Amino acid sequence: MIDAKILIEKAFEAQKFCYTPYSNFNVGAALLCVDGTIYQGCNIENAALTPTNCAERTAFFKAISEGKKDFTAIAVAGNKKGVKPGDGDFCAPCAVCRQVMAEFCNLKTFKVIIAKSTEEYLEHTLEEILPFAFTSKDLE
Ligand code: THU
Repeated sequence: MIDAKILIEKAFEAQKFCYTPYSNFNVGAALLCVDGTIYQGCNIENAALTPTNCAERTAFFKAISEGKKDFTAIAVAGNKKGVKPGDGDFCAPCAVCRQVMAEFCNLKTFKVIIAKSTEEYLEHTLEEILPFAFTSKDLE
């Protein structure tokens, strides 16, 4: 696993492409694949609201659509537009994004890094933030 700080920097960097005219809340994500590649994602909003895509899912869908299947960790950084790293709050992935992570990641080993800055961040396994998950195993 690479240094969490590198992944957090990539998550903040991803905020530059956020399309957030409705919430003015910018979220960046950086998804680390087992092969070492990193996919960045931002939130992309829509006038009809429900088509909005979160930063985490943007990163996952970019990676999956390019053939990646194995993931190590994701860093997430979210704050109101214009707020500097360290001045914002922790932005935890929404429940829909957690469910998407559960489709593709190991609950016990995949790490979710929720960052206020490169100095201040929380690190949890997916299982810790999504206990008692509904997954493909339930359909067997
Ligand atoms: N958002 C994310 O991108 N990720 C999350 O996990 C939480 C919410 C976005 C969606 C919307 O564009 C904005 O934050 C406000 O909800």
